[in-house]
Amino acid sequence: MVSHVRTVAFQGVEAVPVDVQVMVAPGKVGMQIVGLPDKAVAESRERVQAALHASGLSMPAKRVTVNLAPADLPKEGSHYDLPIALGLMAALGAIPGDSLAGFVVLGELSLDGTIAPVAGALPAAIGANADGRGLICPHGCGSEAAWAGADIDIIAPRSLIAVANHFRGTQVLSRPEAAIRELARNLPDLADIKGQESARRALEVAAAGGHNLLMVGPPGSGKSMLAQRLPSILPPLGAPELLEVSMIASIAGTLADGKLSDRRPFRAPHHSASMAAMVGGGLRVKPGEVSLAHCGVLFLDEFPEFTPQVLDSLRQPLESGECMIARANHRVTYPARFQLVAAMNPCRCGMAGEPGHRCARGARCQADYQARISGPLMDRIDLRIEVPAVSATDLIRPGPSEGSAAVAERVARARHIQCERAVELGQAAAVTNASLSNTMVEKLAAPDAGGASLLADASEKFGFSARAYHRILKVARTLADLDGTDTVGRVHLAEAISYRMAGEKLARQAA
Ligand SMILES: Nc1ncnc2c1ncn2[C@@H]1O[C@H](COP(=O)(O)OP(=O)(O)OP(=O)(O)O)[C@@H](O)[C@H]1O
Ligand SMILES: [Mg+2]
Repeated sequence: MVSHVRTVAFQGVEAVPVDVQVMVAPGKVGMQIVGLPDKAVAESRERVQAALHASGLSMPAKRVTVNLAPADLPKEGSHYDLPIALGLMAALGAIPGDSLAGFVVLGELSLDGTIAPVAGALPAAIGANADGRGLICPHGCGSEAAWAGADIDIIAPRSLIAVANHFRGTQVLSRPEAAIRELARNLPDLADIKGQESARRALEVAAAGGHNLLMVGPPGSGKSMLAQRLPSILPPLGAPELLEVSMIASIAGTLADGKLSDRRPFRAPHHSASMAAMVGGGLRVKPGEVSLAHCGVLFLDEFPEFTPQVLDSLRQPLESGECMIARANHRVTYPARFQLVAAMNPCRCGMAGEPGHRCARGARCQADYQARISGPLMDRIDLRIEVPAVSATDLIRPGPSEGSAAVAERVARARHIQCERAVELGQAAAVTNASLSNTMVEKLAAPDAGGASLLADASEKFGFSARAYHRILKVARTLADLDGTDTVGRVHLAEAISYRMAGEKLARQAA
């Protein structure tokens, strides 16, 4: 007799249905798993046998064959243990044969028969719900899976015995509740920063429009400090974004206790990060930092210290908002719509451009250091600012410094305007100015006469690329939104161009 249990394989953030077929037949005693299992799946044979034994069920003295269909789809991970074990229990008559028909099953087994949490419960639940099925998942993943919908049937047992009792009706398990993580609200606050008025303004603009930002300045001027305060002024995630972000976190296995958080991701990988860590990949393909920063911020401190290959691998996701990883046997795509914030020193010794300083290696010091960042990557950064050393007056007698709460309020208002505009045009509400398409920018950020003439003059004089032209318009749109005005005026364009030119000036100094 063959019993069937539905489970899933993950491709990107999508859950692809997999049929687990278990057959118990006379023949040589033993258990075989076929259907392209990787090592973790093949080892599940030992875990399943031990867990069944611990649960008081002995393996039959027969031949057990497990087939994972479709046979040509690679199966990775340890979540096949539970479907295999339940299939076997159904084949042996330990649970009613038809009880598993309406469910998708995933979970890892311990040798003592308890069910351990696995990655990917949320995408599996969403897939199951779309299919009109329920979900059987580990107890630790129940509250995460409950986010898939109010009416999806979820069973989150702690052990194999609990599943058996549930289906026999002796101890029915209740549906887990969807849970949200309570986060400490005491994030680092902008009020700690003395001086640096223009850098604070640029940070606010970046947060309001989702623009990429590069800060250049000498050591100790507060660049890392500013970036760490960005999460405190970003608005919380909206409902659709929350699910998108959590699906990636679920696949990556970083959702602790299965609770979701509405805080935007802030990822700050060290500069020794490899390409696989940054864009995703590895033997068992996992989302990289760019995908874990989806809908949030990717902060790269000491920007030029990253390897050039890693930096250039950011170009495609920055442009397309997703990251495609191709391997010999399969291809996966992860969403990666993130905001890049980078910080760097102007040169190797860190002090180029400071009054009275001369680099020991002369002009080469600055040129060599900045050349580590390719032109095309630089072109994708809308806001480039200089963060000079804090002046003694600012340090000793600082003026009043605005706190994060007030800035966050202005940012939220500007984002709300962008949302309303997107909804009016029938687009997803999560669209920020930075992620507008070029045609949309030309329509939504058309400057008034004064602004247009300023932009035309500047384009002619500085020879902006087409991308630079559109990016300047996007920043100007954000500045107008922060002002609460409909039209993009000359002042907005002047400020937007100045952010662009700060970078050009640095490049000229370095040349
Ligand atoms: N504007 C500022 N207001 C208050 N404290 C500051 C400011 N700038 C720097 N500091 C102090 O200096 C320390 C170093 O700042 P931070 O790490 O942000 O510098 P950095 O610009 O990132 O330097 P590096 O280029 O070496 O990474 C901070 O921990 C803080 O104590
Ligand atoms: Mg720093």
